[in-house]
Amino acid sequence: MEKRKKLTVSQFRKMKENGEKIVMVTSYDACFAALAEAGNIDMILVGDSVGMTQLGYENTVQVTMDQMVHHCAAVRRGAPDTFIVGDMPFLSCQISEEQAMRNAMRLMQEGFCDAVKIESDTLLAPLIAKMVHAGIPVMGHIGLLPQHIKTSGVYKIQGKSEKAADRLLADAKALEDAGVFSMVIECVPAALAKRITEMISVPTIGIGAGKDCSGQVQVINDILGLSPYTPKHARKHAELAELIKNVISSYTKEVKEGVFPGEENSF
Ligand code: KIV
Repeated sequence: MEKRKKLTVSQFRKMKENGEKIVMVTSYDACFAALAEAGNIDMILVGDSVGMTQLGYENTVQVTMDQMVHHCAAVRRGAPDTFIVGDMPFLSCQISEEQAMRNAMRLMQEGFCDAVKIESDTLLAPLIAKMVHAGIPVMGHIGLLPQHIKTSGVYKIQGKSEKAADRLLADAKALEDAGVFSMVIECVPAALAKRITEMISVPTIGIGAGKDCSGQVQVINDILGLSPYTPKHARKHAELAELIKNVISSYTKEVKEGVFPGEENSF
């Protein structure tokens, strides 16, 4: 079989121009990253959702830079031929410009990412422009920003009022002008995501933002049926939690009953 070629930022832009959907899924370790690559995904996001899906945190606020680097490097080992985006965690961009640049450098150099993603708005556009100028591909992230959960108190649809919609349109434009190669739009009305997608030249990657974005991203646990709760924007493509529970109880039963290991498993 021909070795697959990693996609590039210019190919993602071409995909938008040609109307070809871009598909992204999260992964957090080498095992699932290898499966995502084998499933022919266009790009992998090592999201800070790792905090909730893998580390048992209540939200993404506790996720650290060291943890992101650790998970990004594992994903790279599993998916050497896939474009990988590493999430910049809580406050990794806000303390100082120098620290933000160093943090992005870590995701690229120690985590082997191809790009970084930043939960962003107009205020972060000058920093993003400097990163892009320095050679760091940046994916913006507008709409619902989970890292703001402590100030917002609730995860909810964004951009519903005219004023809020105008603000998101302005954020999207500012990020495009800053040079992002694409942007995630999370939990906004489908019609607004469509307007943003038509307004800017870079691809939009939606999650809970309707079908007219240039692509879609989902949290891998949600689509595999591994999450305790499936958000409205996700569709379970499997029931892996049930399957895994059944496998563990069958293994447990066989050991308890002396059926495993059998002759064929012994030396
Ligand atoms: O952390 C994450 O998984 C994300 C996606 C939900 C876009 O930011």
